[in-house]
Amino acid sequence: MKILMVCLGNICRSPLAEGIMKTKVPGNVFVDSAGTVSMHEGKHPDNRAVKTAANHGIDISKQKSRPITKADFDTFDKIYCMDIDVYADVVSKTRNEEQRQKVSLFLEVLGDHKNTEVPDPYWGDMNDFEEVFQLIDRGCEAIKNQLSSVINPIKN
Ligand code: 4NP
Repeated sequence: MKILMVCLGNICRSPLAEGIMKTKVPGNVFVDSAGTVSMHEGKHPDNRAVKTAANHGIDISKQKSRPITKADFDTFDKIYCMDIDVYADVVSKTRNEEQRQKVSLFLEVLGDHKNTEVPDPYWGDMNDFEEVFQLIDRGCEAIKNQLSSVINPIKN
């Protein structure tokens, strides 16, 4: 199973989602993240995201921003988008129905009409980053449970 988390810049939300998800799934599940724009390519996550993750014992400092590529749609089984604009952009890059089926809105799994998007904390403060961390943590937990039969298949 290969999971890709996607946001706009790949320096705030999707690096947090990558870092959090990695703590929840076994090592044979590959988790990565990407952005829809290449503006921050090669940069480490935003310091506030790094600090917020560190406050929860998660090190995301070594991640590097990269834009989503054509190959990602073949490589990954699941592609989770942090907000609706990102979702629309990612879907527009798919080339067939199989690829489209892999793409979903990250928080859809919560079934909570008030929280369908992970707000962009980039223009906010540390409180916004902490709120986003909590929301992403809930999303990752729900996705882990949803995928549990695939992630931890029952061995007969
Ligand atoms: P992200 O946040 O999509 O969660 O990584 C953003 C990062 C950078 C910008 C916007 C959002 N920016 O405009 O540079």
